[in-house]
Amino acid sequence: MPEKTIVDASVPNAGRIYDYLLGGHHNFEIDRRAGDQIKELLPFLPKAMRLSRWCLQDVARTLTEERGFRTIIDFASGLPTMDHIHTAVAPGTTIIYSDHDPVTVEYGREILGDTPNVYYFQADCRRPEELLNRSEVVEILGDDRHVAFVYWGVSMYMSDEDIAHVARVLYDWSDKGSCLAFFLGVGNPEDPAIAKHIEIYRQMGEELHFRPLEVFKELVKPWHADELGYRSMEEWHGIEAKMTEEDLKSFAAGGGGYGVYLVK
Ligand SMILES: C[S@@+](CC[C@H](N)C(=O)[O-])C[C@H]1O[C@@H](n2cnc3c(N)ncnc32)[C@H](O)[C@@H]1O
Repeated sequence: MPEKTIVDASVPNAGRIYDYLLGGHHNFEIDRRAGDQIKELLPFLPKAMRLSRWCLQDVARTLTEERGFRTIIDFASGLPTMDHIHTAVAPGTTIIYSDHDPVTVEYGREILGDTPNVYYFQADCRRPEELLNRSEVVEILGDDRHVAFVYWGVSMYMSDEDIAHVARVLYDWSDKGSCLAFFLGVGNPEDPAIAKHIEIYRQMGEELHFRPLEVFKELVKPWHADELGYRSMEEWHGIEAKMTEEDLKSFAAGGGGYGVYLVK
C-alpha cells in the first residue's frame, strides 16, 4: 500500500474535517462534504468544536503562564491551525504535538515550518510510551519529567482500556506535580444522531467511543482533578453557548463534554 500523502484529496481525512468544522482553510472538497454531512446531523458540533478550541487556548495559557510549565506534550493534536496551543503559550515553551495520522503529521509540519521549540511527531495517543521513548523526544526532553500532557477532544477515539492505560503510563513516567489536561466528550451512543456520527467515522475507519463522566473518573485514577474539578465548556470559558433541546439531548448536560486538570 502506498503511504498516504497530504495531496490525497480522494478520501476524507479526520484532521482536515476537524479543521473545516473549526472554520479553517486546510481542507479539501471531500472533507467539506463529509463535514457538511456531520454538521447536518449534529448542528451543534462546530460550535462545540470552537468552544473546545477556545478552552484549549485557555489551557495553554493557564498551564504555562499561571502554572509555570515549560513543556507541553499534546496527543492527537490534529492540524496546528486555528489558534492551536503554540499560539497561546508563554514564550520559550516547548511544545510536542503528535497525531497518529501521517497526513495530519505531514501537513502539520508544513504548517509549523521552522517555528522554534515546536515539534510534530507521528504517534498513537493510546500508547503514549511510544512517543515518550522516541529518540528525538528523549533528546528534546532530556531528564525533564515535570510536564503538562494534553489530551483534548480525543477521548472518543479511545476505549476504556486505552484511557486506563494512558493514565497509568503517564502517571508512572512523570514527576509529582505534573498535569494531565483532559477534555472528555460525553454523549449517548444510542441517540440516533450520535449513532450516525459514529457510523460516518466508522466508514473512514475510525471507531468512536462515548462514556459517562463517572466511568471516566474511575479510569484515570490515580490522577485526581484539581480544585477546579470537571467543568463543561460553557463553565470553562464563561461563554453562553446557545443549545437547543436537541443539542442537549445529544450531548447531555456537559454541552459536549468536560475539561479537567488532572494532577499527580
Ligand atoms: C477531534 S481532533 C482533536 C484535535 C485537537 N486535540 C483539538 O482539541 O483541537 C482529533 C484528532 O485526533 C487524531 N487521532 C484519532 N485517533 C488517534 C490516535 N489513536 N492517536 C493519535 N491521534 C489520533 C485524529 O487524527 C485527529 O487529528
